[in-house]
Amino acid sequence: MKPADRHQPTAADPPEGPDHRMDDTTAHDAPGAPHGAPDHDARPYRRNPDLLLEWADGGGPVLVDCGSWRKFAAKPVLVDLLNQLDRPHTADQLQGRWQESAPGGDVRTLLARLAAAGILRRCAPPPTDAAEAAVEGAVDDAGDDAGDDVRDPGAGWTAYERAVHARSGLGPDAAAGRGTPPPARLHHPGVDAAIALPDGADAPSRPLADVLAARRSVRGYAPDPVPLPLLAALLARAARVRGHLAPRAYQQTQRPAPSGGARHSLEIHLVARAVTGLSPGAYHYDPFAHALHRLAPWTDELAAFQQRTVTDPALLDHAPPASLCLTAVAARTTWKYEGMALSLIYRDTGCLMQTLSLTATDLGLASCLTGRMEAPFTAPFLPPSLRAHLSHVGNMALGLPTSPLAAPDVTPLAP
Ligand SMILES: Cc1cc2nc3c(=O)[nH]c(=O)nc-3n(C[C@H](O)[C@H](O)[C@H](O)COP(=O)(O)O)c2cc1C
Repeated sequence: MKPADRHQPTAADPPEGPDHRMDDTTAHDAPGAPHGAPDHDARPYRRNPDLLLEWADGGGPVLVDCGSWRKFAAKPVLVDLLNQLDRPHTADQLQGRWQESAPGGDVRTLLARLAAAGILRRCAPPPTDAAEAAVEGAVDDAGDDAGDDVRDPGAGWTAYERAVHARSGLGPDAAAGRGTPPPARLHHPGVDAAIALPDGADAPSRPLADVLAARRSVRGYAPDPVPLPLLAALLARAARVRGHLAPRAYQQTQRPAPSGGARHSLEIHLVARAVTGLSPGAYHYDPFAHALHRLAPWTDELAAFQQRTVTDPALLDHAPPASLCLTAVAARTTWKYEGMALSLIYRDTGCLMQTLSLTATDLGLASCLTGRMEAPFTAPFLPPSLRAHLSHVGNMALGLPTSPLAAPDVTPLAP
């Protein structure tokens, strides 16, 4: 991830960066108690769990607080202290080891400063005066500092997930959106056949309210092949490109599902085990030409790919007659939204998934989405030249419903 917000303090930002006061802190003079310094040190401190270490361009290692997106020079003495504060420690516990690094030998001042900068967090005070015993006990019992205030609401995320979320909240990098945008159309090398699809205009449809009421994930399919006209209607209604949006040079298109910045990074591949009129194999849907491009015949590797991305995660007894594999050409979105592109691609995926899901229901097709993503993406139908350019983001099982379609097993709400 690139250094993000130029307005945030960074290692290269002397007046603001608490990192530069670390030199004071770790050296000599003894400033008075800092602003907000506690008058007792019974509460233990712990390293802010949102801190990650990254390398600034030519600037050495930098600590990044993924919650506030502040940055601090990662001096060895600080990293050493933070290593120890993987678990809660009181100032008294650290006094012996750190007094020489602290101003005037006062570790409390050092810790309070680091806490004020957000590098450390205060934990809840132990229930008794025996701070040390209580802290050790909490760690031993819970394996972590249970009951303290180290964790934010939303706990359960890793620091990496918080980093992506916090970075996305900052908006795109100022340098994004320059130069030539990547094309909105993917041309697969090595296509061995192109199948023009019917437009699906004569396929059935129902009122939206009925479709919403009927939509559900289906985990059992009739053994019959999927009729190509229904599959073509699904792709036309849910994913076909309707035209370019101005300015055309930006490679923005208008399609049935919305997409951040009209970047439409997503590509649909079809894994066709049994579709009428198609030889079994893998295909790429070209949403501009409304055509399927055949990439590979059916093989054991393709069957295994469908098994691990669709059949197993959807808990199906049998492989579905067809499945869709959703991938992203991330460069389309990063070109305009670098820094927040991943979150936009995931949201685009949700939009396309829902559009496909409702359209399948409307057409009388049964479907089940799966969130399985392979990274690195090694689908057997991918040419090596595209492996690094396509990110796998989701899948959908497709088939005809068994008759009658089983009702979902739900517990009615109490009146
Ligand atoms: C993003 C996403 C990922 C999903 N991944 C899976 C999956 O991997 N396996 C699965 O069985 N269902 C998956 N589902 C389907 C959900 O389990 C299903 O929507 C949920 O159980 C509610 O049932 P309903 O769709 O019938 O309302 C996924 C749904 C979404 C939206």
